[in-house]
Amino acid sequence: MQPAVVAHRGASEHRAEHTLAAYALALEQGADGLECDIRLTRDGHLVCVHDRRIDRTSSGRGVVSTMTLERLAGHDFGRWHHAPPASADELVHQPSGLPSAPVAHRGLLTLETLLGLLVDAPPEVRLFVETKHPVRYGGLVEAKLLALLARYGLARPPSREESRVAVMSFSSAAVRRVREHAPMLPTVLLVDRLPRARRDGSLPPWADYAGPGVHLLHTDPGYAGRVAERGHGTYCWTVDDPEDVRLCQRLEVHYLATNVPAATRAVLDGR
Ligand code: G3P
Ligand code: CA
Repeated sequence: MQPAVVAHRGASEHRAEHTLAAYALALEQGADGLECDIRLTRDGHLVCVHDRRIDRTSSGRGVVSTMTLERLAGHDFGRWHHAPPASADELVHQPSGLPSAPVAHRGLLTLETLLGLLVDAPPEVRLFVETKHPVRYGGLVEAKLLALLARYGLARPPSREESRVAVMSFSSAAVRRVREHAPMLPTVLLVDRLPRARRDGSLPPWADYAGPGVHLLHTDPGYAGRVAERGHGTYCWTVDDPEDVRLCQRLEVHYLATNVPAATRAVLDGR
């Protein structure tokens, strides 16, 4: 079995992370899946930003949850990166409710815009949405996410296998809320350290995939096998180094999240 290649924050080594340009490049490179992090703005919109603050990845400063969508959208989320500048044909419009001026592929990305890209992408492409700050908002992020997925007809697939979207979190409570309210969406419980009780490969009943960081597979290469024996899949992050890619291949993980989808595919294909 070949692991499926998931573009982590888009093809984020070669385009600024969480920009439309990064996701467009990932699809061009034949990624099987796309990964994004979501946060809630002050006025209740879901935006694709990894950090609590926008300082590292934009021309602005501030905490996402204290800023309105309009204020966030005023910043450039691509200039910090070494990507080539956007060309005229890369201009896109933001969803309704924002100023009508077109913004480049490197503007703020809303989850709504990314879902628009997903529904136009080949049907086998799956989006892995990771909820951030789920504790602070006590379920609001998941509620907004599920409402948005419902608007795009993505919240109630016929089966988990056929779902275009999977939801992930480091918070077990967040994953559980998703299972309760949208039982047909596949879920991934992310971990950066393995609690003793989970070393046997077991998962709580509301999670379908174990989501270890690749460092955990180095420490305990038998883990993915024990997860599989219990009937679950493994989603491993963040797998850029060719040695890590080959490790995931040997261990038959189902998904690997990488910042370099094209190079990862080449390693998997033995090129
Ligand atoms: O794909 C899961 C991985 O993204 C979790 O770590 O910090 O990159 O969101 P982080
Ligand atoms: Ca993430």
